[in-house]
Amino acid sequence: MSNTEEAMTNASQPYLSVNNIEVIYDHVILVLKGVSLQVPKGKIVALLGANGAGKSTTLKTISTLLRGERGDVTKGEVHFNGERIDQLTPNALVKRGLSQVMEGRHCFGHLTIEENLLTGAYTRSISRAELKDSLDAVYHYFPRLKERRGSQAGYTSGGEQQMCAIGRALMAKPSMILLDEPSMGIAPQIVAEIFDIVKDLNQKEGVSFLLAEQNTTVALRYADFGYILENGRVVMEGAAADLAANEDVKEFYLGVSGAGRKSFRDMKFYRRRKRWLA
Ligand SMILES: Nc1ncnc2c1ncn2[C@@H]1O[C@H](COP(=O)(O)OP(=O)(O)OP(=O)(O)O)[C@@H](O)[C@H]1O
Ligand SMILES: [Mg+2]
Repeated sequence: MSNTEEAMTNASQPYLSVNNIEVIYDHVILVLKGVSLQVPKGKIVALLGANGAGKSTTLKTISTLLRGERGDVTKGEVHFNGERIDQLTPNALVKRGLSQVMEGRHCFGHLTIEENLLTGAYTRSISRAELKDSLDAVYHYFPRLKERRGSQAGYTSGGEQQMCAIGRALMAKPSMILLDEPSMGIAPQIVAEIFDIVKDLNQKEGVSFLLAEQNTTVALRYADFGYILENGRVVMEGAAADLAANEDVKEFYLGVSGAGRKSFRDMKFYRRRKRWLA
């Protein structure tokens, strides 16, 4: 293959590609039933769906953190940057540029914000000067973290802890971040602040994101593309703008249809009216 051909093939290959993965918890509970999705390089892709749809399981399958939770991947493959990754360790993935920010903003509560951030650089053997540069880069994007650098993380706000979790992932210099439910339990204004930073990191640093969210409205505002997961299956996918304009999505996930606001928790109605799952 010539260089040009190879470059063209690479350009058309997705950066992250999940192919038909099936996941079983505790040997019996089938949670993902053949999920496929792609993230092109430099894009933000939203993985949407209600409580229990399988968003976190999908992210943990990709980062291989699932193994710690009695989950088995029984089918499918995951490729990142041209390499099959489903047999690698989470550490090996971080070294290749793929980091995950877990749901529930896992910070070490007894450490300061800055100490938390420093733990994010553990996979890199770097000089003090490089470490300082990385910290400064995080503080540039998250001025709030700079203000709170000496505070014990456990006593900072939910939004600050989410920022700390993202900042810690950034310390590993990732080219792609799997971000699980950054809006969870955070005031709308801070959610917007966090998503603005995500967009900035995407546009200025070229970081690709796979973003799991229940908050469909916010996620579709910032993402390029979206997948809707229901009960372990992708039931819909499309450009973020198309999904946001889709009547079914509006009705079941955005609560803005002409018929009045509806909650996706109203499962009876939801099942009856679901048109895309005939
Ligand atoms: N460690 C586990 N052991 C057994 N079942 C699990 C485990 N983790 C998740 N599940 C089940 O798998 C299904 C999918 O869960 P998952 O956490 O992936 O959903 P989610 O889309 O991230 O939901 P949420 O929006 O509430 O975070 C749920 O039915 C959940 O109860
Ligand atoms: Mg989840």
